[in-house]
Amino acid sequence: MNIVVLAGGYSHEREVSLSSGSLIANALMENGHQVILLDLYFGTQAASSFEEAYSKLKKDKYEYTVKRQIPDLDALKAQKEKPNEMIGENIIPICQSADLVFLSLHGELGENGQLQAVFDLYDITYTGAGYLGSAIAMNKILSKEIMAAQDILTPEWEVLEHGDEPTSDVPCVVKPNASGSSIGVYIVDNKEDLKNAVHDAKKYSSSVLIEEKIEGREFSVGVLEDKALPLIEIIPKSGFYDYENKYQEGATIEICPAELDDTVSSKIQDIALKVFRALRLEYYARIDFIVSNDGRIYFIEANTLPGMTPTSLFPQEAAADGISYNELCNRLAEIALN
Ligand code: DAL
Ligand code: MG
Repeated sequence: MNIVVLAGGYSHEREVSLSSGSLIANALMENGHQVILLDLYFGTQAASSFEEAYSKLKKDKYEYTVKRQIPDLDALKAQKEKPNEMIGENIIPICQSADLVFLSLHGELGENGQLQAVFDLYDITYTGAGYLGSAIAMNKILSKEIMAAQDILTPEWEVLEHGDEPTSDVPCVVKPNASGSSIGVYIVDNKEDLKNAVHDAKKYSSSVLIEEKIEGREFSVGVLEDKALPLIEIIPKSGFYDYENKYQEGATIEICPAELDDTVSSKIQDIALKVFRALRLEYYARIDFIVSNDGRIYFIEANTLPGMTPTSLFPQEAAADGISYNELCNRLAEIALN
């Protein structure tokens, strides 16, 4: 098959996405497919078909390591003026002549449903959730409102829009509404830090969410088609599970399958499936939870294009279910094509 792995893009998670994309591309090549890894933002020069792009970009192996620093999008923008034209003139024609576009995009455009909707219009087959589920899940506030309507527990929250001032008690968690990889996320203990955190979170999303801080253990559950994978427990060696602890090898202890009472594990998996359906996720996703010290299970968020980097959780959850990285990539491709 001719497969375009679409990664990078104009998102704060572009490096994470390139890291996921390089592993996915290598796995698909090992599975015998003709694969190109294409940066959504930079595209490639003057290639109007998959074959042309393949002859230019063909590689035996892709490698990409996530740097410690979150990418500076302004610096990126200085290199390229009109990324949207690139999508229309270059990305779409290459994707149209491929058999499949494997989406390895994280954050903003690529994960928020916009690109999925454009691909639907052009009849381009892609992996992962459609535009609706992608748009809902990327919006943390909307996801929580749907959870509340479904009687699924989620931490209490406050929404800040326009010039709203926070009224939440501390400690609390400040998050941009539509971002990923904990970029712009802060756990704050005092009102001064709260103000600064809100100011920073607004750089990443026009709406900001403040959640009550739940003390407990952190878990994540992958869902593949209609089945919940084994749970993983996440224990950062210091601080919380932020960008650094997510992508620096060895910074976080990850236990999969999680050491948890079977009844509690099954209950979390059942809730994960309920979330998956409520948010219209289709095909696959990774759902994050906190179990409070008094045993309550809180939905935190759903990720429609979960990370596939060397430190990411979803591939570890699949491996605990006997599915290797290469098999996982093949499965995700097959699901999209059927
Ligand atoms: N947003 C990152 C890539 C994740 O959910 O794994
Ligand atoms: Mg996320």
